[in-house]
Amino acid sequence: MKTTTIPFRINTEPHDASRQDIINFYDEATEDYSFWSRDLNMHFGYFDFFKTNLFRRDTMLNEMNEQIYQRLQLKNEPTLVADLGCGMGGTMRYFLNKNEQLTMMGVTLSPFQVREGNKLLARKKGLILQENYCETSLASETMDGVIGIESLCHSGHSKESLREGYRLLKTGGKMVIGDAFLKKSPSQLCFGSKHSYQRLCTGWSLDGLGVIDEVKQRLLDIGFQEVLIEDVSFKTAPSVLHVPFAIGGFLLKNILQGKPIKPQSWNNLKASFFALLCGLHMKDFGYYIITATK
Ligand SMILES: C[S@@+](CC[C@H](N)C(=O)[O-])C[C@H]1O[C@@H](n2cnc3c(N)ncnc32)[C@H](O)[C@@H]1O
Repeated sequence: MKTTTIPFRINTEPHDASRQDIINFYDEATEDYSFWSRDLNMHFGYFDFFKTNLFRRDTMLNEMNEQIYQRLQLKNEPTLVADLGCGMGGTMRYFLNKNEQLTMMGVTLSPFQVREGNKLLARKKGLILQENYCETSLASETMDGVIGIESLCHSGHSKESLREGYRLLKTGGKMVIGDAFLKKSPSQLCFGSKHSYQRLCTGWSLDGLGVIDEVKQRLLDIGFQEVLIEDVSFKTAPSVLHVPFAIGGFLLKNILQGKPIKPQSWNNLKASFFALLCGLHMKDFGYYIITATK
């Protein structure tokens, strides 16, 4: 029988993204996201037939913000929420525009995002700090809610990042996470998934995606009372399908303007493409919203 040799090695070990990798990536590639979202949402969207428009990506990206906001169940009084891995503060601005009683703190590793994100937050009750979300300087038990949208994957949804969310929350407060997760351990992925997963992690400087059942257990072990896991893969799929068009449009614009594509932009484009491929392997990957109550 003829055997096929795989022409390259697939590493299923989690990619070890250093903090400097993440900083380099976001300092250089954040501007590209203005092509993905006018509101600078650096995440996928949530499709709702009655509230969003399939052809207007930002309606879906902002609906993801709305879905996360609703799950925080904030009281009608002055409240404080932390965004762990806040990017350009797109979600912070969405929340602050909705709720005048809210104050928000965001943390990111990228100095570019701190500088430019804080400019966009001027005159709003929000501030972005350059800090590691696994060990912030924010005081314990001060937050009414904590969120992390497509940010905790940079640390592989690690115990340290989840424990920091728990430490910041007041009793009864909720930590809401929106992100892609593995449905099984990396070693059990099929060939196509393994390859796409590895390229995704390298391109976006991710330590790796958490395995959903293990992350649930991790949250319970940390001390969260209740952990609700919702598979929203079909709701995010329409915005994931925007990826090839966004990549094509971005490349075309740069070519027409004679602009070279920066190395981190290439990483971003390649990882976006592999995110789409991962999304197609629905037995191995899913997009979930987790609501954990302290
Ligand atoms: C894909 S962006 C998502 C940004 C934002 N949550 C949104 O949805 O628009 C990931 C963010 O996580 C941040 N990040 C990654 N690792 C981090 C860490 N260890 N500490 C703080 N921020 C981190 C990055 O700097 C970036 O802002």
